[in-house]
Amino acid sequence: MTRQPFFYDITLRDGNQSLKKPWNLKEKEFIFNKLLDFGVQAVEAGFPAASEMDWEACRRLAQIAPKNLVISGLARAVERDIKTAAECITVCEKPRLHTFIAMSPFNMKYVLNKTPQEVRKTAVEAVSFAFSEMKKLNKNSEVQFSIEHFGDCMENLDYVIDTLKDVVNAGATVINLPNTVERTRVKTFVDMVEKVYNALPKDIMIAVHCHNDLGMATAATVESYFAGATQLECCLNGLGERAGNTNMYEVAVALHNSGVDVPLNLSEIYEMALVVAEMSKVPIAEKAPLIGPEALAHRSGIHQDGAVKTKDMEKGAYRPIHPTLIGRKDDEKIGFTSQSGKTAVFEIISDAGYPITMQEAVRITPIIKEAAEKVGELPTRNIIDIYFKEVFNVQGDFRLVAFEKLSEKVFNLKFFHKTEFFDMNAEGNGPLDACLSALKQAGFPQKLVDYEQYALDGEIFGSGAIAMTVIHFEDLDGKTILARGKDESTLKANVKAIFNGLNLMNHSRQV
Ligand code: KIV
Ligand code: ZN
Repeated sequence: MTRQPFFYDITLRDGNQSLKKPWNLKEKEFIFNKLLDFGVQAVEAGFPAASEMDWEACRRLAQIAPKNLVISGLARAVERDIKTAAECITVCEKPRLHTFIAMSPFNMKYVLNKTPQEVRKTAVEAVSFAFSEMKKLNKNSEVQFSIEHFGDCMENLDYVIDTLKDVVNAGATVINLPNTVERTRVKTFVDMVEKVYNALPKDIMIAVHCHNDLGMATAATVESYFAGATQLECCLNGLGERAGNTNMYEVAVALHNSGVDVPLNLSEIYEMALVVAEMSKVPIAEKAPLIGPEALAHRSGIHQDGAVKTKDMEKGAYRPIHPTLIGRKDDEKIGFTSQSGKTAVFEIISDAGYPITMQEAVRITPIIKEAAEKVGELPTRNIIDIYFKEVFNVQGDFRLVAFEKLSEKVFNLKFFHKTEFFDMNAEGNGPLDACLSALKQAGFPQKLVDYEQYALDGEIFGSGAIAMTVIHFEDLDGKTILARGKDESTLKANVKAIFNGLNLMNHSRQV
């Protein structure tokens, strides 16, 4: 499909009117600039007749609007509102007057107290008046007309369509179809949108404006686009009356994922969402799609495994987008609970900057799981503490007491095995060799199959330069055991690694 969606932002009007403390001019201008960075094609700046403050804000935004941006002002279908809004916004290059009236049988009868014929007359006269007022002040002007409660017009849809034809003849070029209160199925609403789209001339832009009372506003908006609606009225962070309006980010990403050319800078989304939450004092729900703190978190072992295996791929096993698409710098969060597994341990410790192998992760996972069973999600700090204890300070039958260099080639090793104390002198080509030789003399021969020496980032370990020794022993069953030791001195790092390895294998003495 080549038709590009037209994003019409209503954060500063529908979103703003629902805030406990509506934004002032400065705040509106701040959000407005964010909307420009995001790339929306139209902004409904406010309801100029509502208050002096809103008039001033709409006027200011109209004055600073770039040439290609549509600035719209809302007005009820009454002359005073229309005149006020027209005078306010026609200073911009592309002004639009947005007027509306309800046409659902229920609202006409119980709220407006008007017959359908009276409502039709009011609608047509309002559009006609708006058209002439706007054109007088700015020849680029447009008029948008909304049928408030369109979603409740199933029974009188023919009447609505006939009225809209008159409204179009009176000068409206954008027809907005709101689901003012979301009460029923998405499909019912979308079918109605399609019917209106098919009934009106093709140069009329069809818009949808969906509220989220049943949590389906995104679905209704996205599907309406495929049924012919081009203008999509959405709010940042899904702000708006009651459960809010359609969330702009969700619609944009859903269309993008469906192969539609979305003319928005999607990478602005995450930061913008945080700013809007702060300014609106409406916090982002933990589980909010795309932007929620939990939206990219995985806690079950199966999900964590899939997430890690597809981490750097555009398509992830358990996420709808790559986080960078919406400017989320943080990657998929792996949280550790009793449901999690070795992959999570490996990722959390590696992400924190500490060395770990999968073999070590497998070994310490049951210990971390046990801790998580008591507290629920285990903070990273606690996981790292367990890692330090289980990797660098392995408890067991062997306990190192001292290791000293006596001369160029001779070293002294003092240690306990269970309750037995050993004090051995041994020669060797360096500390590692001498320590192994002392152990052999004491009856604990070891098969060293590999040895590596590293300098660790002292900062991350909370001290100066740190030496880390990694050794690989082969145990009696021929299995390779990896052990680490760390210390400011390389000599001590060597010996600590050996003792950690001994405790991991839990050898008995060979005499
Ligand atoms: O929800 C609604 O019907 C509205 C109209 C004013 C467009 O906000
Ligand atoms: Zn609304």
